[in-house]
Amino acid sequence: MFKEIEYAGLKFKNPFVVASGPPGATVERLVKAEDAGAAGVSVKLTFTKQPFYGRLRMYSKPGEASIVCHDRRLDMEEGFELVRKGKERTDLKLLANITHPAEDLEGWQTLAKGYEEAGADAIELNLICPNISFSERRMGRSTDKSHGAAIGQHPEIVEQVVGAVREAVNIPVVAKLTPNVNDITVTAKAAERAGAAGVVMAGGQSGLPRVDIYNGGRPLGAYCVDGYSFGSMGGPGIIYQSFALTAQLARALNIPVMAGGGLSTWEDGINFMMYGATLVTACTVLMWEGFGVIREIVDGMERFMNEAGYSSWQDIIGMSLPYLKPAKELQVVPGKAVIDEDICTGCLKCVGLAHCDAIVEADGMPQVIPEECVACGICIGVCPVGTISVVEC
Ligand SMILES: Cc1cc2nc3c(=O)[nH]c(=O)nc-3n(C[C@H](O)[C@H](O)[C@H](O)COP(=O)(O)O)c2cc1C
Ligand code: SF4
Ligand code: SF4
Repeated sequence: MFKEIEYAGLKFKNPFVVASGPPGATVERLVKAEDAGAAGVSVKLTFTKQPFYGRLRMYSKPGEASIVCHDRRLDMEEGFELVRKGKERTDLKLLANITHPAEDLEGWQTLAKGYEEAGADAIELNLICPNISFSERRMGRSTDKSHGAAIGQHPEIVEQVVGAVREAVNIPVVAKLTPNVNDITVTAKAAERAGAAGVVMAGGQSGLPRVDIYNGGRPLGAYCVDGYSFGSMGGPGIIYQSFALTAQLARALNIPVMAGGGLSTWEDGINFMMYGATLVTACTVLMWEGFGVIREIVDGMERFMNEAGYSSWQDIIGMSLPYLKPAKELQVVPGKAVIDEDICTGCLKCVGLAHCDAIVEADGMPQVIPEECVACGICIGVCPVGTISVVEC
């Protein structure tokens, strides 16, 4: 086993935490998560009392995207009981994912204190959920109460909520931030100023599914429901945006970042850490592949660390950040594409790319005109047999 890692003052046996959602909604699932190797679980979102009782409705395209528009949340007594039992039956670090109207800071404090008494290791403020008031605002309606992402867009309210909850409990308070903002570092810094011990950035962009173009344009993929709502996105389709947000946060903050949003393999986990994450987190992939995928992710990450000769997780956190520069400061050098004729099958997929005059057909085979090549490297990925490389010249 590789070494433990610290986040928000807590020690985790490895960097993998199950993100809040259905996989963290019952004690049996917490046990399964621990058996599969998770170091922690963020339990399902809890309200003092839910504004409506949801049922899981989710556009689900395995390998591509999830967009959840409805889910069963927990009322606080259920949540407290879940954490009490979870602490009895597992050694997991349990984060309590909570939300409440911003207008009632005492309600936030009640939830947080209840969770602290129940044994939660940390409070995770849900400033991300786009399914409650945020989805109404996406429809152009005004709402009297703000929950989740509708709070997470306003740095001054983030600061108030983090501050109020910090005052109420002694356990660490972390802020799970919405990506549905212009600049996530502004809300993250507000959380940091108010004393958050860490932030969580795990996707949750507001999204809509594809529609059934042959059936009146009805949004696809949610069964047994009469329409759709602007939902929270997960799955591999969002991972590149998640990397960007992780890097931004890691550069801007002095507190640690737990990151996810599209993570589905151990390599993704290492990528997130190299972009600055201290812990990594996932939800959708568990719903597609079961708890066993946690074992693959954790074992793969630990194997990589051992094989690559690193001595602690800390060695890789943020190691990709020095490569990031404003575009105008990137030093671009000339180069050219080279085709290995021994491997080329002559399929000509690399000929006629819309941006490229450098590969032409000659006697049924591709030929590179070096002086036309801008060395963008796009043809490398287009070639089905991997026979193109780009070299400096
Ligand atoms: C069905 C479902 C329910 C979710 N419920 C919650 C929740 O209760 N609280 C929360 O903070 N995030 C919730 N999320 C968001 C996930 O925790 C995660 O941030 C997001 O799905 C992106 O990560 P992924 O690509 O690994 O799914 C939910 C996601 C899904 C798919
Ligand atoms: S795509 Fe690859 S295999 Fe096909 S012609 Fe071009 S270099 Fe050859
Ligand atoms: S590197 Fe870019 S410009 Fe050069 S041949 Fe490939 S696609 Fe064309």
